[in-house]
Amino acid sequence: MFRIEGPVRLSGSVRVSGSKNASLPIMAAAILGGGKSCLKAVPRLSDISVCGELLTRLGCKIAREADGRLCIDSTVIDNPVGEYEIVRTMRASICILGPLLARCGRAEVSMPGGCAIGDRPVNLHIRGLQELGAQVHLKNGYIIAEAPNGLKGKDIFMGGPFGSTVLGTANVLMAATLAKGRTVIESAACEPEVADLADCLNKMGAKITGIGSPRLIIEGVSQLHPVEFEVIPDRIEAGTFMVAAAITAGELRLQNCRLNDMMAVIDRLREVGVTVDAEADGCVVARRGPIRPADVTTQPYPGFPTDLQAQFMALLALGEGNSVVIEKVFPDRFMHVAELNRMAANLRKEGPTVIVAGVQKLIAAPVMASDLRASAALVLAGLAAEGTTTVDRVYHIDRGYEKIEERLNPLGAKITRQNV
Ligand code: EPU
Repeated sequence: MFRIEGPVRLSGSVRVSGSKNASLPIMAAAILGGGKSCLKAVPRLSDISVCGELLTRLGCKIAREADGRLCIDSTVIDNPVGEYEIVRTMRASICILGPLLARCGRAEVSMPGGCAIGDRPVNLHIRGLQELGAQVHLKNGYIIAEAPNGLKGKDIFMGGPFGSTVLGTANVLMAATLAKGRTVIESAACEPEVADLADCLNKMGAKITGIGSPRLIIEGVSQLHPVEFEVIPDRIEAGTFMVAAAITAGELRLQNCRLNDMMAVIDRLREVGVTVDAEADGCVVARRGPIRPADVTTQPYPGFPTDLQAQFMALLALGEGNSVVIEKVFPDRFMHVAELNRMAANLRKEGPTVIVAGVQKLIAAPVMASDLRASAALVLAGLAAEGTTTVDRVYHIDRGYEKIEERLNPLGAKITRQNV
């Protein structure tokens, strides 16, 4: 549990960590290397530890070296199974399906269940792998994919009702690197994390072009090799710090931040009256005037990221007027709405839309974290609210933010972690 005393004004410098959502599929890609791959800038998060445990159970050896690199030795993979026990704690575990299938000709991965942000089906992952020639069936809650004679390249359309799929694209992309012939993934996810994965795969010997575009072209190769690779900075963590500066009327210097990955976020921040000034390795974010209302629609990249919707809603809750937030990626991702209302926000949900009537102040309350980004939003609201907010179940925030209180407190936050 966090106890957060507010309101505070944040100022100072903070370094953005490596990206969680780039690291997870890149760790899975190490399966394809068949040797020791070493990754730089992988954040120290509980989701990364869970992914490490998942790979260990497959037969890999994982170690954090003294210099901070995370090394994965995939020389031996003798148990190509992603167990329910792990998958149920982290849905991203599904991204071992494609590389395991390509490497071993067989993979069993527990079918992920629903979660706090919605249903989250994996039909597009499965369909994509079937298009590459895999036989896929479901048994005892496990997805069993088989391709004893290898995979075959094909033109595949990966779009779904909510646009492209990030981990679905990652799975099919990884599988296609070792398929015979050429694969074209049309309507591929364009997220920087997918581009980072593709760059890593190319460094391992894959032949991928169209990186960063919705059409990925993969010429299959017979094998990949281990790699030394540094993951990109976390644009969602960076965006969360930006909102922290904005909501506290503060000024933060962000280091290790790629603004080019964050154009939609910066556009919305400027709309609400926040300044974002580029620097060599990052930017300075500040708010001096009132928070202006703004409309925000989440979309696949390069649109506004769903992973910053909750944090932005906390900011808009203090806007001078009405804002509208539309969630087009996960239409049920609104668990934070009722909690923010407990802090005297005025939010009204109508289907995939929330109408935000700005209030003059938020008032501290005991609130409950439901998922990673919702918990970040509650922490941000707690920084700005009057009084002592307690946020319960902060293990959610530890999944995606490295020691958040130890990084915010030197900037002026007053957050204490309490064991309950
Ligand atoms: N979808 C389908 N069928 C599929 C796969 C997805 O209909 O087979 C739908 C989903 O239900 C959703 C939309 O497509 O409506 C997009 O989902 P996507 O597959 O892109 O999500 P994901 O790959 O499972 C990643 C991130 C999420 C992030 C989303 C969207 C990782 C580990 N996770 O999930 O991050 O919200 O992309 O950008 O990369 C987070 O970090 O807090 C987080 C949830």
